[in-house]
Amino acid sequence: KNRPVLSMYLGFLMYLWLFCRRKGEPPLIKGWIPFLGKALEFRKDSYQFLQWLQQKHGDIFTVLIAGKYMTFVMNPLLYPAVIKQGKQLNFHKFADVAASTVFSYPLMCTERFPGMSDQVQKCFLLLQGSALDLLTFRMMGNLQLILRRYFLSKQGEELEYDWHKVGLYEFCDCVMFEATFLTLYGQPPDTNTDEHTHSGKESWTDGLRDNFKKFDRMFPLLLARVPISLLGKTKCTREKLIRFFHPCRMADWTSPSEFIQTCTELFQQYDTLKDLDKAAHHFATLWASVGNTIPASFWCLYHLLSNPQALASVREEIIGVIGEEEAEAICRHDMLLTREQLDRMIYLESAVKESLRLSSASMNIRVVQEDFSLHLNPHFSVCVRKGDIVALYPPSTHQDPNIYLHPQKYMFDRFVEDQKEKTEFYKGDQKVRYYHMPFGSGVSMCPGRFFAINGLKQFVCITLLMCDMQLAAGQKEAVLDTCRAGLGILPPANYISFNYRLKGHFRDE
Ligand code: HEM
Repeated sequence: KNRPVLSMYLGFLMYLWLFCRRKGEPPLIKGWIPFLGKALEFRKDSYQFLQWLQQKHGDIFTVLIAGKYMTFVMNPLLYPAVIKQGKQLNFHKFADVAASTVFSYPLMCTERFPGMSDQVQKCFLLLQGSALDLLTFRMMGNLQLILRRYFLSKQGEELEYDWHKVGLYEFCDCVMFEATFLTLYGQPPDTNTDEHTHSGKESWTDGLRDNFKKFDRMFPLLLARVPISLLGKTKCTREKLIRFFHPCRMADWTSPSEFIQTCTELFQQYDTLKDLDKAAHHFATLWASVGNTIPASFWCLYHLLSNPQALASVREEIIGVIGEEEAEAICRHDMLLTREQLDRMIYLESAVKESLRLSSASMNIRVVQEDFSLHLNPHFSVCVRKGDIVALYPPSTHQDPNIYLHPQKYMFDRFVEDQKEKTEFYKGDQKVRYYHMPFGSGVSMCPGRFFAINGLKQFVCITLLMCDMQLAAGQKEAVLDTCRAGLGILPPANYISFNYRLKGHFRDE
């Protein structure tokens, strides 16, 4: 008859074990809403919310967010300890679960697909090293093709050399999406009546881009595990996007990159992977390659156009590296810009990095594999529990006034010192190793980062060489759309337009 009392007692002990703080654990902020915890505050403006918690609780604290206990590490001097803890803090399993839910493919890290996850990581190496030369070369050709087509679309009309006004985001989106796609996946046959595009009248790229945008708007909700059935037509949109990459269709695309070809061959080796699963993997790679690059290209151009001194210096550097004659010849033939030439454009690189610093909001997530004590420095450890999440939050580093002077301000040459790339940053008297983290860190570092930076530099170079540009007068400043905080590069919240006019040498031809 004592059974109910005993089970209540055991239940109480269980509750204490699960939910009470154990010795050495960071402060816990749970809020009063069960399960949801502080999810709403976090989603509203994660930067402000975490800054506030840091002021109250110090550099490390745990927050309950939608059923997950997330321990935030807010001080970059403590990051190295987390980043090197590969064994007890795992990234790949977490990424596998997240990506398989969002992009709809079966979990990779299981016995059904032995070795596949490691093989995919190997494929990622084809975005770097010597393979990057060819990718950079292809990107250069594609950007020029698309930009020329864009700028000369009024060919034959008198108006060709007048000023034209267009939306800056739309411009970057249209150019970077197609150029990145063609560079990685090759050229699909241009069938206007393709059933997988939005409508019969559009080109394949407009249809694909349109569906991509619809899907991308829902991306944060999918990642937060909101069932896709509650998200209107998203399921149908995702299906169209996946079907676009069906192996039967991809077989007709001309000259895919070595990276995509190798991924395709790898997927073929797994009988357990259905055709639509292979397609879903390719679609996930498309998302990874353009999802951040497009907003990044917007901020790169926007900041340059807003800062005349930065624009003049960067333009001068570009022409200095390419040579005036060659720069003008862009109106006659494709310009070559080698990796070595791009590397010499250190002010342009700094301008790109500064734009990324100001717009990046991505967190670095690791899942705790077992209860253990995380040694953050010789004098400081915290206990973390199996299944909890440890998160680095780089935006607080990027905005730290002790690391970056006037952190809100855009300074195009912030990453240049003595005519060389500046790589030493200090917080007080301590050197900060992880001072710039838009591409993540350690095992979760973006494998496409070199390709991305090169692509952004190429995009700025070609655009500036082909036309004069200025932001339209009387607009409010662009501000970040914070509702995607935690996920890569934030897009702008407001519409920004710019005026452009083809350079004189196009006219003289
Ligand atoms: C400015 C542009 C870009 C930014 C800021 C960026 C940022 C990132 C970040 C932060 C991650 C890690 C995600 C995480 O921690 O969960 C990541 C992963 C990834 N990125 Fe990028 N990325 C960019 C462009 C690219 C490009 C052009 C490619 C080319 C294919 C690419 C391919 C990938 C892939 C394949 C992964 C997944 C890696 C893995 O699962 O191990 N990214 N990116």
